[in-house]
Amino acid sequence: APLYAVVPAAGVGKRMGADRPKQYLLLNDRTILSHTLSVLLSHPRIHQVIVALGPEDGYFDSLEEASHPRLIRVDGGRERSDSVRLALAAIEDKAAWALVHDAARPCLHHDDIDRLLAFPGDQGAILASPVRDTMKRAGADGTIDHTVPREALWHALTPQLFPAEALHQALVRGEQAGAVITDEASAMEREGWHPALVAGRPDNIKITHPDDLRLAQLYLASREA
Ligand code: CTP
Ligand code: MG
Repeated sequence: APLYAVVPAAGVGKRMGADRPKQYLLLNDRTILSHTLSVLLSHPRIHQVIVALGPEDGYFDSLEEASHPRLIRVDGGRERSDSVRLALAAIEDKAAWALVHDAARPCLHHDDIDRLLAFPGDQGAILASPVRDTMKRAGADGTIDHTVPREALWHALTPQLFPAEALHQALVRGEQAGAVITDEASAMEREGWHPALVAGRPDNIKITHPDDLRLAQLYLASREA
């Protein structure tokens, strides 16, 4: 089945606090979004890349990838899940699979995509990383209520891989139900799916705060070296 990459890139980057949405900040010599799109566009299994942009995006057109023949742009929505849903709606092939990846994760490697595509089972899959630190549940007064066993805990990363049509329906129903959906897997979990957890590389960080820019710069520079 054909594989489409879906890239939510319609956020404003509130926590970054920069003068523009964080996906348009420079990392070494290119924007974050340009790094992300070029990793996806150069993967041999990915048929097309659909990017969801903010309504007042004044930056995308100046990206090198903007005129790529296998890139489609759509308008994003209010929440990340809305942007993903609107991008999925542009896929006409009902048998397609969607690999959803945050614009804000520019350090993605092809070998992470390859490991995800080889996922076990038939319920879709996400990249994830095991929790390293001891986890505490806070009580109402801010003191520790108890320690949460970390053995079964993972951080959810992207890409996340699902049949495009099933994911689209799950997002529509999740929104109708007023559910809080912060990743694709949570929409599928509501529908009774049990997606696989595939261990991802630790350098696939999401750029959220200013400190993350320096870390991503180091990861990208060490790759190019
Ligand atoms: N995103 C999106 N549409 C939205 C909100 C977010 O496409 N309405 C995208 C962002 O552009 C980003 C990804 O979803 O690539 C992950 O979201 P996040 O890291 O939260 O980015 P922002 O929402 O831009 O940042 P913040 O929450 O700090 O405002
Ligand atoms: Mg956000």
